[in-house]
Amino acid sequence: MSVYALWNNKGGVGKSYLTFQIASEYARTHPHEKVLVIDLCPQANASSMLLGGIIQGEQNLDNIALTSASRRKTIAGYIEERILSPYMSPNVGASYVTHVRPFNGAVPPNLYLVVGDEELEIQASRVANATSPGPADAWRIVHLWISDLISDIRNSWDVQDSTVFIDCNPSFTVYTELAMSAADNLIIPFSADGSSKRAVKAVLALLYGITRIPGAPQSQFHLESQRFRMSVPKIYAYVGNRLTQMNLGAAGAFKTVVNEIGAEIFSVWRSNPNLFAIHPHGAPVPSSQREFRKMFQAEINDANTASVISGALGIPIMALHSGTKNLAGKDIMVNQSQLDKQKPNISNFVQTVN
Ligand SMILES: Nc1ncnc2c1ncn2[C@@H]1O[C@H](COP(=O)(O)OP(=O)(O)O)[C@@H](O)[C@H]1O
Ligand SMILES: [Mg+2]
Repeated sequence: MSVYALWNNKGGVGKSYLTFQIASEYARTHPHEKVLVIDLCPQANASSMLLGGIIQGEQNLDNIALTSASRRKTIAGYIEERILSPYMSPNVGASYVTHVRPFNGAVPPNLYLVVGDEELEIQASRVANATSPGPADAWRIVHLWISDLISDIRNSWDVQDSTVFIDCNPSFTVYTELAMSAADNLIIPFSADGSSKRAVKAVLALLYGITRIPGAPQSQFHLESQRFRMSVPKIYAYVGNRLTQMNLGAAGAFKTVVNEIGAEIFSVWRSNPNLFAIHPHGAPVPSSQREFRKMFQAEINDANTASVISGALGIPIMALHSGTKNLAGKDIMVNQSQLDKQKPNISNFVQTVN
């Protein structure tokens, strides 16, 4: 029943790719649930992959955005409704959901999407304006818009269980804040390069006010969330993504970055364990760094051509088979060895999602 946000304050770390893979695999392994992806990124990369990839998916995206009658059937359509009715939910969220399977036969039938939309960028200032002035708790009410959207959709569904994945924009704009206020759990993907550690530190500072320098200014999101006693997502996992096993040297360098970031997050755990989501339900609280890592750290390998084909054709990696694939008229070979690198990672990670 949880809401997961995939966010890091950095682009290109795999938020959208992992949203696509994780939501698809979660839906496949939980056929009695409905799974919702909310694409809160104006680039709409997760939507494009879910709707069939760089050719079919992009076409579908355009059709969905352009052919809708008065309002686009996208996240921007919903946000437009809320800009008109900021402080009273019109309960119209369910009309902004797209059933994915009719657009893409490669995804499970229980997958639903609130399509991403570049118009989010244009709306951002009007969303921010709605947070003040207005009623005394305008900030709080506006930050519940995505929670309202999820409630509307869940209320319209006939199933007991539903799990939500939100793909976020890297920068901490107002719609990223809305995603954070709606999420129970946070999955932080990072890549193994030098700037990832800085980005993860920024996440900790912006969301939880954890800064190393005493007296450093704190984010408005953190201050207002505290003032209004609003929930912020708990750290569910930090995921080293696109790790490569090319050679021992590179693997060793990546390991070092993963461990550095792991140590940073472990130090937060020691001072603020309440910021973390103990899982699965009923699991004992980690009592050592090893147990901490086992619960919160995950690694996803780079599957090279297989990853490119998966995203470009909108075929979840778990449903992709080896062989020759056709991409825009070109034949491209997907090897079993590439698939074997990533499939177990995705499968294992999704087994920890509950
Ligand atoms: N595990 C992976 N293996 C191979 N390629 C990946 C992997 N994760 C992401 N990518 C690729 O890296 C690029 C950036 O990923 P993306 O999900 O768009 O990042 P973000 O959403 O964080 O900006 C994309 O081209 C994506 O297909
Ligand atoms: Mg993205």
